[in-house]
Amino acid sequence: MFNIYNRRYTGSKYKLRDWIRDLIRNNCEGNSFFDVFAGTGVVTEYMLKDYENYIINDFLYSNEIIYKGFFLQENYNMDKLMQMVEEYNSINKMNLGENYVSINFGDKYFNRNDAKLIGKIREDLESKIKKSMINSKEYYILLASLLFSIDKIANTCGHYDAYRRIDNIESRFKYELILPKTINKNQTIEIYREDANVLVKRVKTDIAFIDPPYNSRQYSRFYHVLENITKWEKPELYGTALKPKEENMSEYCRSSAPKIFKDLINNLDAKYVVVTYNNTYNSKSSASKNKITLDEIKSILNEKGETKIFDKPYKFFNAGKTELKNHREYVFITKVKSNG
Ligand SMILES: C[S@@+](CC[C@H](N)C(=O)[O-])C[C@H]1O[C@@H](n2cnc3c(N)ncnc32)[C@H](O)[C@@H]1O
Repeated sequence: MFNIYNRRYTGSKYKLRDWIRDLIRNNCEGNSFFDVFAGTGVVTEYMLKDYENYIINDFLYSNEIIYKGFFLQENYNMDKLMQMVEEYNSINKMNLGENYVSINFGDKYFNRNDAKLIGKIREDLESKIKKSMINSKEYYILLASLLFSIDKIANTCGHYDAYRRIDNIESRFKYELILPKTINKNQTIEIYREDANVLVKRVKTDIAFIDPPYNSRQYSRFYHVLENITKWEKPELYGTALKPKEENMSEYCRSSAPKIFKDLINNLDAKYVVVTYNNTYNSKSSASKNKITLDEIKSILNEKGETKIFDKPYKFFNAGKTELKNHREYVFITKVKSNG
């Protein structure tokens, strides 16, 4: 069964989670935790014993479904889901007809027969929820499980900016379930799929964890296959990477990032603000260059309250073009001024 961290995701803080959690525990106080750019959700998951109230947000559709699959506290029947998955895995893929996934992604991101089964399962989930054969939590678990199962075998180097050009992609797809989390009765978790700058105006928290994109690489373009399969609107696709029309293009990946970051921090209603960032702005590849400098972050946070800075060396995602020596990861912790 998949845990929430069994995913390839650029910028995931999985390997830094102990460091981040210790820093937060030692420098912040409170009962609520808001993961503003939650990505995989591994940071929230790691903090689940520490607070009473959680808010988790990311503007990608696939991430929202994954949070709902893992975290939403509603009833589901695991035996029923296991049986369904077993039935799907026993289907003879060769006998399946073509569908949206196989036509677009077959022999590219997936083996053609695997793609047929992925498309069949996705279509089935939609019809099962419409006919009330599964409830909404069961739907989220099954769809999140499909996303993890796809991601495990996709013919890519970790994201979907390109597929590897090989002749015979091995058939490796197996539908496996995620392992949903149970939280205590006194705990709450709210899940959002919103632009962070819009959401911060409506919610309040003790500790806000801010881990925005660092460079010009757009997450919605990297994970377009997962977004497409999640939304299931079957759009027309373009280019060799077979991407749909642009959606959810982040201002944090553009030159407006410092301005938008300042706006976010100004509007945040929190007692502590925790920001992570890294020093790739010296990178030779322009796509990897930081959009906000450390000095800009420092001065924006200093206006909000007293800010401490912690850093450590870190080996970072590298798709080949990027040369990153002396890469460091930073955590800023701001104790917000009472009028801040
Ligand atoms: C560096 S990643 C976060 C990684 C996460 N902390 C983890 O450990 O997996 C940044 C995330 O911000 C999301 N994002 C980018 N711009 C956003 C925006 N304006 N509002 C909400 N989410 C956004 C991206 O989809 C991406 O998942």
